[in-house]
Amino acid sequence: MGLGQGAVEDLVSRVSAPFNNFYAGKRVLVTGHTGFKGAWLSLWLKELGAVVFGASLLPPTQPNLYELIAEEVFEHDALCDVRDLNAVLKVIETVRPDVIFHLAAQPLVRRSYAEPLETLQTNVLGTANVLEAVRRLGLPCAVLVVTTDKCYENPETGRAQIETDPLGGHDIYSASKACAELVVQSWRKSFFQTDAKLGPVATARAGNVIGGGDYAADRIVPDCIRALMSKQPIHVRNPAAVRPWQHVLECCSGYLCLAARLACEGKSSPMNGAFNFGPDEDARRTVGEVVTEILRHWPGEFHSTPPTVALHEAKLLWLSAEKAKQQLGWRPVWSFADAVSRTVAWYQQHETGREEMMDFTREQIAAYVADAHTKRLDWASNGAEVR
Ligand SMILES: NC(=O)c1ccc[n+]([C@@H]2O[C@H](COP(=O)([O-])OP(=O)(O)OC[C@H]3O[C@@H](n4cnc5c(N)ncnc54)[C@H](O)[C@@H]3O)[C@@H](O)[C@H]2O)c1
Repeated sequence: MGLGQGAVEDLVSRVSAPFNNFYAGKRVLVTGHTGFKGAWLSLWLKELGAVVFGASLLPPTQPNLYELIAEEVFEHDALCDVRDLNAVLKVIETVRPDVIFHLAAQPLVRRSYAEPLETLQTNVLGTANVLEAVRRLGLPCAVLVVTTDKCYENPETGRAQIETDPLGGHDIYSASKACAELVVQSWRKSFFQTDAKLGPVATARAGNVIGGGDYAADRIVPDCIRALMSKQPIHVRNPAAVRPWQHVLECCSGYLCLAARLACEGKSSPMNGAFNFGPDEDARRTVGEVVTEILRHWPGEFHSTPPTVALHEAKLLWLSAEKAKQQLGWRPVWSFADAVSRTVAWYQQHETGREEMMDFTREQIAAYVADAHTKRLDWASNGAEVR
């Protein structure tokens, strides 16, 4: 299943300096590095030559991607609760990062119903603590705060949400991320814009992310994989719900593009704001379609099983990525079918050869970068400017 070392090096050599080589040698702090997206982002940063630091709680699931990559990726990683300002201050003061990617969060809608205060403390106060620590330390680093497509009020009209649409949130998770957006706006206006010592800060809103290494509860792909591994039928709560599905490398490429531009251009740049990173129309699919596509690669059966307790879940989420396309030159690389097949391939490989997962994951990053290069995306072009 693996490409082998030579093939990986060949893929990598086709793109010598993604993101205009911005990350080589940079000190980068990733909060939430023990989670699904944080682990992928950290590995990619390491591939780009960054010196990568992590700050999080322990991995939220067992198994997880973090433990497969940690030894080779992190210069140092700290156990740090973002709800604790002193702990956050200590980590940021020690690392003195050039760039911070803030991903640490309680990211699950259903858990936010069970743990509403913990969700707010982690997602809202945690974001404020990261920004406050940077402010108190007077650091010029660029900060990228990861929120979600669920931060919008979302009247479910079928129109794609744009960055200037009203923030909102029916459930606690969505509201917590809308609040995190407001926290960023107010810290930017009150402190970051006015204090010459401080750097720029942006937010990134991405949709439903799929990819290998996600084992979270109540997410459709991990639910499918758990059922398939144990040869049980897949039970699907809301097969008709429509979501913007994208591979984890799509949003990571958006985060990397945005943070590089932010750091290079500083706080007078238009990058100093909010950006959506959503897939193309092709990936606007129902949950049922995702399951059917997974079953093409890993045969099994699925049933529609309405939940015993019906919690509100949006029927339709859709994001416009026009701003990222226009201002960053960012575009999705993989089709919906590619995203699902790469995702299933990762879990199938994990079933058979855990010891090779670091290389297998690196190969998926290299293949994604090579495909971006073939599609002539600016960030993946040799020697091109970052945009
Ligand atoms: N996965 C998705 O589909 C998706 C979609 C949109 C947005 N997001 C956002 O992306 C980010 C990462 O999501 P994920 O899917 O990787 O989640 P995850 O659950 O896999 O990882 C969450 C990370 O946050 C850390 N964390 C949780 N509480 C913490 C605390 N109090 N202090 C320090 N660290 C803490 C965990 O240890 C872990 O490292 C989150 O901000 C999430 O809201 C995810």
